[in-house]
Amino acid sequence: MLTIALSKGRILKEILPLLAKVGIEAAEDPFESRKLILPTNLDDVQLLIVRATDVPTFVQFGSADIGIVGKDTLIEHGGDGLAELLDLGIAACRLAVAAPVGFEHNPSSRLKVATKYTRSAENYYASLGQQIDLVKLYGSMEIAPLTGLADVIVDLVDTGSTLKANNLVEGEKIYDISSRLIANAASLRTKYAQIAQITDQLEPIVNAVDAA
Ligand code: ATP
Ligand code: PRP
Repeated sequence: MLTIALSKGRILKEILPLLAKVGIEAAEDPFESRKLILPTNLDDVQLLIVRATDVPTFVQFGSADIGIVGKDTLIEHGGDGLAELLDLGIAACRLAVAAPVGFEHNPSSRLKVATKYTRSAENYYASLGQQIDLVKLYGSMEIAPLTGLADVIVDLVDTGSTLKANNLVEGEKIYDISSRLIANAASLRTKYAQIAQITDQLEPIVNAVDAA
């Protein structure tokens, strides 16, 4: 049995058509079903539906053999016990700094940064030699600078409409993001043929989309 960890939300919406193209289809609609372990049209493939931030953990510890996860989440996890097999190009966005319109940091004070992406933010500001105070949040980060909880945020940006709606402006980009196919390191050895088949089938489909 090959187990694939997926998360609800935008990744699921974008990965289901790709999986269908390589012949894997959920037996029930994952958006409607309350089941968290879903059989597929293939007897030897099943899907786990987990939180986006938990996908690397389920794969790392072998509850799932492979998974689909944003590069942002993968970086925060650290990647222990995982192999990154393919950039799927889906759920593309960027991690960026954002601040209230007109914000200017006084260089003699420590910058207060609110984010869910603490590892990325720490590495980014360390690379600039900038000392920061981190505030860990799990969502609605845009509110932090508006209420004095932080000076700036580090968050995902796609269209920029969330920032605009909250009177924030995008600053420096930290890195570009897309979803990755990851594998459990042990499964990659023991189930190599099955995993390689899926990867090899997905690769030209993803490249064709990139080239279009
Ligand atoms: P969790 O439920 O575990 O907190 P989440 O709310 O971040 O996770 P999603 O919003 O579905 O889950 O995001 C999953 C992934 O999709 C992110 O890790 C990122 O890689 C990508 N992503 C998030 N927001 C956007 C966006 N606005 N545009 C494009 N891709 C995005
Ligand atoms: C993500 C992210 C931003 C928004 C950016 O939130 O945290 O708030 O998308 O996208 P935009 O630049 O196109 O506006 P999401 O919609 O996933 O909500 P969440 O707070 O549940 O993560």
